[in-house]
Amino acid sequence: MSRMHHYEGESIIVEFDLSRCIHTGDCTRGLPEVFDTHRRGRWVHPDAADAAEVARICAACPTGALRCIDKAEGELMHAPPAQHSIQIVADGPLYVHADMYIDDRPETAYRVALCRCGKSRLMPFCDESHREGFRNAGKVPLVMPDQAPAADILCITTHAHGPLTIEGTFTLLDSEAHTVCQSNRASLCSCGKSNIKPYCDGSHALNDNRSESI
Ligand code: FES
Repeated sequence: MSRMHHYEGESIIVEFDLSRCIHTGDCTRGLPEVFDTHRRGRWVHPDAADAAEVARICAACPTGALRCIDKAEGELMHAPPAQHSIQIVADGPLYVHADMYIDDRPETAYRVALCRCGKSRLMPFCDESHREGFRNAGKVPLVMPDQAPAADILCITTHAHGPLTIEGTFTLLDSEAHTVCQSNRASLCSCGKSNIKPYCDGSHALNDNRSESI
């Protein structure tokens, strides 16, 4: 469910999807004069900095909660990344930065945070439920083999109470932003139970007859 807010400036519009925000603080640290949660009333002030800087900070929001629109052109000011990446966050979600589809729907801000603790009420997206005790350092125990042809678009398929199937070329990064491998296909755990995180090991099916068999 989208909870979109619009903040209009002279030349740009900042769109904010509250349902995607997990309060990482990247925007408030990056441009505190624009993204100011301490002021009364509206918290986004698009004209308080150069429009290109506002667009840069919006494009860097790791969850895709922020988008910056050029008013004259009516177009998004973010470009898709040159390389698709999936980064594991310690004790938290997966940050995906890619030209991507999730279950055949395009993600137009090119960024999402996907749940890997299994507790989100907004599956497949992170809703900060991992703060209730999910622990995983985000190190990667093994390197997965390439299993599919390269592709320009990243396609993510969700499975009820089961993994995220990733198809398309991407770089996997650990929680310290070290490259683990490049791959074209993976099955990543989103239930929080796998013993080989970030990969699915089938543990989602144990004691859970609601799981889709994968
Ligand atoms: S989704 Fe977690 S083990 Fe398969």
